Amino acid sequence: MMSPMPPESESPQLLSLRLREETRQSHEQIESVLDLMQPGLTLEQYARLLERWYGFEQVWQTAADRAIGYLLPPDFLTRRRRLPMLRADLLACGRTAEQIDALPSFPATLLDWKDRSKALGTLYVIEGSTLGGQHVAKFIKQHLGLTPEHGVAYFSSYGPEVGVRWRETKAVLDTPPFPIDADAVVAGAIATFDYLSGWLSSPLPVLPGEG
Ligand code: HEM
Repeated sequence: MMSPMPPESESPQLLSLRLREETRQSHEQIESVLDLMQPGLTLEQYARLLERWYGFEQVWQTAADRAIGYLLPPDFLTRRRRLPMLRADLLACGRTAEQIDALPSFPATLLDWKDRSKALGTLYVIEGSTLGGQHVAKFIKQHLGLTPEHGVAYFSSYGPEVGVRWRETKAVLDTPPFPIDADAVVAGAIATFDYLSGWLSSPLPVLPGEG
C-alpha cells in the first residue's frame, strides 16, 4: 500500500526560507551593531566602516572563489565582485591607494572554507546584504550627499539588478549545484553574521600620525 502524502508542514522547507528564519536574530544583531542609519553619522565614521568591509570582502572573495566558485554557475561569483566598488568608495572618501592597500584583513581561518555547505552559507549573507544595502545607500546619499558614482557604490551594489541577482542567489540555495548539508549551510551563515558583526564593529587601530 502506498504511504499517504506527508502533511504540508512536513514537506521539506526551501533552504532560502530556512536561512531567512534561522538567521533573523543574527541579522537584527548586525543591524544594531552597525548603528549606521543614525542622523549623527559622519563621513569619517562611514569611511571607517567601509575600511572594515574592505578587509572582509577581500578575504571573502578569494576564499569563496576557491571553495565553491568552480561549482557555481559560470561567472556567478565574478559577476558579484564588489571589492572594486569598496575601493572606489574609499578613494571618494579621501583615502589613498596606499592606505587602502595597508588595511588589515579579516582572519580567513575564522570561517570553515573546507566545508562547501558552510561556504555556501557565507554567500547567503554577503549577497543578502545587497538588499539592506539599498536602504543604507539611500540614507548615505541623503545624509552625506554621496552618489553611487562617488562614494556609495558598494551599498548601491547592482542598482536596478539587485532583485534579479537575489533571485538567482536564492535559486542556487534552493537547488544547489552540488550536494549540501542544509544544517551546515545555516551554521555557515550564522557564523558569518556573527564574526562579521564583531569585525565590522571593532575599531581599526589608529595609525601613527593619525592622532
Ligand atoms: C543598517 C544595516 C542594514 C539594514 C537596514 C538592513 C535591512 C534589510 C532589509 C530591509 C532586508 C529585507 C529586504 C527585502 O526583503 O527586500 C534585508 C535583508 C537581508 N539582509 Fe540586511 N540590512 C542591514 C545590514 C545587513 C548586513 C550588514 C548584512 C550581512 C552582512 C545583511 C544581510 C541580509 C540578508 C542575508 C538579507 C536577506 C534576508 C532574506 O533571506 O530574505 N543585512 N536587510
